[in-house]
Amino acid sequence: MNSPIFRLSDCPQHLTFIDWVKSETDWHDAESRAKPRGKYPTLIELEGPDFDMSAIGGAVVEAMGLYGVYGWATNDGARSNGYVGFSLTYNPDHEEGIDVHASLLGSGRLSKDEYFARFTYQDANARTRGKNSYDDTYAFRKRTPASRHKALGAFIDRFSRPLLRSRVSAMRGSLGGQQAIVGVKHTDPKRCDAGWHRDEPVFLHLRVNLPVITHPSFRTQIEDTVDAFLEPGRLYSWDTDLPHRPIATERIDKVRIHLVLGFSPWLDYLEEEQAYVLNEYYGRLHPFDMLNEGLIFPGTRIATKNSMEVSLT
Ligand SMILES: [Fe+2]
Repeated sequence: MNSPIFRLSDCPQHLTFIDWVKSETDWHDAESRAKPRGKYPTLIELEGPDFDMSAIGGAVVEAMGLYGVYGWATNDGARSNGYVGFSLTYNPDHEEGIDVHASLLGSGRLSKDEYFARFTYQDANARTRGKNSYDDTYAFRKRTPASRHKALGAFIDRFSRPLLRSRVSAMRGSLGGQQAIVGVKHTDPKRCDAGWHRDEPVFLHLRVNLPVITHPSFRTQIEDTVDAFLEPGRLYSWDTDLPHRPIATERIDKVRIHLVLGFSPWLDYLEEEQAYVLNEYYGRLHPFDMLNEGLIFPGTRIATKNSMEVSLT
């Protein structure tokens, strides 16, 4: 298939790279064409991966010491103590010129209610801030030094698709604040105040989560379907376009550290050209099928049964 070359430098200033590509292609139809071939659980767990979790965990902790951890930034100038981490990718042309390891922990242009991503729960179609802004996921295309550290770097090297917006995230249970809610039902309107958010659809940015250090008090919830403790050393994915949140169910002096990796399923990156091209999966293979066929992480597939999933309906 012949794809035009989409150079980052040709992207108009008012658009993020992916919004520009969407405007130049039949992306919307491509998403409709690529129906999943398999029926997958809402919370997807991968099976088959073989990796040394303790070596990865050790490298993550070392990298935190070497490169620092950064609190979630918003436009009030403060960084959060409850949600911290470091970036695994960065954009060399970032408009705010943030330290590369801090560049995916919020932004001075994010408002307080935009929790962990560009989309708030209340406003799923919020306008993006354009080229080289925090929202410009495909511009976060270079690996940070921390992302290459020892076993962490070797693990990330094994994925076969371009790494985009990705970070090591750490949540402190002792500082859970508004996220430390016990017994709140999904029907409770107060949920909007407690970290519910949506990220990009999986066609744009397919996320894979690896819990590194955690505790059963930390749970991941997906609206109306999932309330689960994600176990360390297992790889998870889900439709991040659905409202979801991480929470601490009690104030506890524990930390939850996850690798949050995001991949480009349908665009290949050409480093020498600073450009992307549509690949052979575009409009043909749903990103979950790509996960299931080992096209994101070779040697893995989607587990058919997921013991973690708890129905809330
Ligand atoms: Fe998220």
